[in-house]
Amino acid sequence: MSRFRSVVAGVGSYLPKKVLSNDDLAKMVDTSDEWIRQRTGIKRRHIAAKGENTSDLATKAANRALKAAGLEAGDMDLLVLATATPDLTFPATATIVQANIGMVRGFAFDINAVCSGFLYAMATADSFIARGQARNALVIGAETFSRILDWEDRTTCVLFGDGAGAVVLSGEPGAPGMGERGIVHSYLRSDGRFADLLYVDGGPSKTQTVGHLRMSGNQVFRHAITNISASIAKVLDDTGLTVTDVDWFVPHQANQRILEGVSRRLGIPDGRVVTTVAEQGNTSAASIPLALDTAIQDGRIKKGDLVLTEALGGGFTWGAALIRM
Ligand code: ACO
Repeated sequence: MSRFRSVVAGVGSYLPKKVLSNDDLAKMVDTSDEWIRQRTGIKRRHIAAKGENTSDLATKAANRALKAAGLEAGDMDLLVLATATPDLTFPATATIVQANIGMVRGFAFDINAVCSGFLYAMATADSFIARGQARNALVIGAETFSRILDWEDRTTCVLFGDGAGAVVLSGEPGAPGMGERGIVHSYLRSDGRFADLLYVDGGPSKTQTVGHLRMSGNQVFRHAITNISASIAKVLDDTGLTVTDVDWFVPHQANQRILEGVSRRLGIPDGRVVTTVAEQGNTSAASIPLALDTAIQDGRIKKGDLVLTEALGGGFTWGAALIRM
């Protein structure tokens, strides 16, 4: 039984300045704005500048989330950073961000669950908070996928972008309830049998290189719709809630067609879906907090709203969560 529930105290995000449009990409590989928009809904994406690392994006997002929460780095007990594109093999990018923001207490570590990373990081921080082992936690999703793309492979390089989003979670006494603010429930899954459908073909142990992202797009698409829909059904079923209780659906932003497929299957009206994929592409672990921040900043998501979120990524990893904002 939890003694504390994890309340979202503040959200922040950061996108690198450089924007790469579909027309820009059409000058690099055999593609077109029309093909990319029709198949993915993506119009443009942000790309980190030379020398701008995952930790730099994460630091900016973290500082904005702290400001939104009205808290200082010194108030944080825990920092969990989800990324598949760390600055270095080690130390964890989380510890680099910890130093950057001036957090000289607590503990920090990375989680790699690729596009599901933010859900994994949030559930992990929630467990530490629930047990009273952390009072305040920074949960960050940050990626520079531009560094692991094969810029000659039109089937993958058009899909991804760089960015970071962060959430400050604060422990409040009492178990998560349906009406109170906080993370209501989360559900995580993985199945390593599907690792070869979406992976990076390099790494320190196997190849001593960084490698490039490889994907069987069609099969990922099929698994994404099935697994995401099932994990949403699971969190709703476990909590006795239904789609009509959900105020906002804030999915991982992989592809407009995946978002529409899942929404249609579950009967979520278009007007309740937060989409940023057109402007940002797929930013992997960063996409959920980036979308959350977008909808908070523009006034759509308000305190007390019930937010449903989900993701599927390499591994496969996947899951869903319900948050009362
Ligand atoms: N521009 C023009 N043509 C292209 C491009 C491109 N960028 N990419 C592929 N094509 C061509 C292919 O070569 C193929 O040509 P062919 O018929 O002559 O062989 C044709 O387009 C169709 O290719 P498909 O792979 O069948 O296209 P599909 O409709 O499946 O769309 C896509 C590809 C967009 C990748 C889709 O499968 C998809 O969205 N998959 C989900 C993958 C995803 O989002 N992954 C992100 C990580 S996981 C996650 O976050 C959920």
